[in-house]
Amino acid sequence: MEKHANFGSRMGAIFAAAGSAVGLGNVWRFPMEVGNNGGAAFILVYLLCIVLMGLPIMISEFVIGRHTQSNMIEAFRKLAPGKWWRFIGILGIFVAFIILSYYIVVSGWTLYYTYSSFSGMLMDNDTDYGAFFGNFVANPWLSVLFAAIFMLLTHIVIARGVQSGIEKCSKVMMPMLLLIIGLLVLCAFSMPGIDEGLRFLLKPDFSKLTVSAVLSAMGQAFYSLSLAMGCLCTYASYFGPKTRLMSSAVSVAAIDTFVAVLSGFIVFPAVFSVPGVEANAGPGLVFQTLPYVFNMAFDSVPWLGYLFSGMFYILLFLAALTSAISLHESVTAYVHENWHMPRKKAATLVSVATMSFGVVCCLSFGVLSGWTIFGMNIFDLFDSVSSKILLPIGGVLIALFVGWYLDRKLVYMEVTNNGTLSGRFFGVLLFLIRWVAPIAITSMFVKGLLDML
Ligand code: PFF
Repeated sequence: MEKHANFGSRMGAIFAAAGSAVGLGNVWRFPMEVGNNGGAAFILVYLLCIVLMGLPIMISEFVIGRHTQSNMIEAFRKLAPGKWWRFIGILGIFVAFIILSYYIVVSGWTLYYTYSSFSGMLMDNDTDYGAFFGNFVANPWLSVLFAAIFMLLTHIVIARGVQSGIEKCSKVMMPMLLLIIGLLVLCAFSMPGIDEGLRFLLKPDFSKLTVSAVLSAMGQAFYSLSLAMGCLCTYASYFGPKTRLMSSAVSVAAIDTFVAVLSGFIVFPAVFSVPGVEANAGPGLVFQTLPYVFNMAFDSVPWLGYLFSGMFYILLFLAALTSAISLHESVTAYVHENWHMPRKKAATLVSVATMSFGVVCCLSFGVLSGWTIFGMNIFDLFDSVSSKILLPIGGVLIALFVGWYLDRKLVYMEVTNNGTLSGRFFGVLLFLIRWVAPIAITSMFVKGLLDML
C-alpha cells in the first residue's frame, strides 16, 4: 500500500487551504455582492456568517479529513461503514467536478484578459467593453482555447503531486497574490473615487439589509471558504498530526476575508472614479466595467493603466488557479486512491473529463446558447444547481454528521491534537456545529430554491 501523501510543513498546509479558499469568489463575486447589497452593512453580516457558520464547517471538514487520512468518499466510508452518510462524500466529489467544469471557463477569461491587458487591447478609449466581452465569450475557439490552457496548467500542478505540486505552487502563488493585492490597493488610493469608494465600503446603511441580502452573505461565505466540496477534507487528509485544526481554520478564514475585503478596496474606488459606472453592475463588474474604468481613470498616464489592469487580471488568474487546483485534487485523490490508479493517470482522466464538460460550458455562451433548462444555459445551470442546491445540502449534512453522528470524543481528540491543546472553546464549537450552522444553512437553501422557482 502506497504511503498517504502529506504536506511537508504546517505553513504549506495553511497556504494550500487558503489557496483553495481565495479564488474568483473573493475578487470577482465578493465585490459584486457588496455592490448589489449596499456596501458596509453587507460586509458586517458576511463577517458574522464566516464566524458562526463558515468556521465550524471548515473545522468539521478538517476533522473528517485528518482523522481518516482519506479522500472524501473513503473518509465517510471509514467513519460510517455501510451507512448512507457515504452519500455526503459522493455528493462532495460530484459537486467538485461540476464546479471545476465551469470554474475553468471563467478562469480562462482571466487568462484572456491578462493577455489583453498587456497587449494593449484593454486600453483603447473607443472600445465598447461590453461588446468586447460578449464577442470573446461567444467565440468558440478563443474561449475553449483559454479554458484549455488554464486546465493544462492546473493539470501540471496536480500531476506533480501533493508536496512538489500543490504545496510548492501554493507557497509561491499565495505570497505573490498578496503582494499584487497590496500594490493594487496602493494604486487604488491614488484614484479620484477613493473617498466615495471608502464611504461605500465602510459606512453601513442598514436599510439595505434585506432578508435576501443576509442570505446572500451566507451563500457567499460558504462558497468563498470552499466548503462542502471535499476540497478542505482532502487537503486535511494531508495535514500532519501537529497541525492545529482550529487555528489553521481561523488563519484560512482570516486570509480569505482579508483578500475579499481588500478586493473591495480595489474595485470600488476604481468604479467611483468614473461617472456613470454603477457599483451594482452585477457579474459584468469585473470583466465589462473595470476595463472601461481603468481606461478612463488612467487616461492621462496610460502606462499606469496597463500595469493596473494587467496586475488586476493576473491577481484574478492566480486566485482562480489555486482554487481550481483544490477542486481537481478533490476528484483526483478519489480516483487515485479508490480506483488504484497512478496519480498521473488519475489526474489525466480527471482533466480530460472536466475539459469535456468545460467545452460545453464554454459553448453555452455561443453556439450552444439555445440549450437551456429552466431558462438557464448550461453554464448558469451548473453554477446555480451546485452553489444554491448541492453545496448547502452537503454543508448541512457535514455539520449534522460531525455534530450528532461522530463520537464526541473523536472530534475532541482531533480538535485538541489528542488532548495536547486547550479544549476551552470546544463546547462553543460543538454548539455552532450542532445547531447554528445547520439552521443557518437550511434557511439559505430554502431561499435559494425559492429564488430558482
Ligand atoms: N473558494 C473559491 C472561490 O472563492 O472562488 C471557489 C471554490 C474553490 C469553491 C474550491 C469551492 C471549492 F471547493
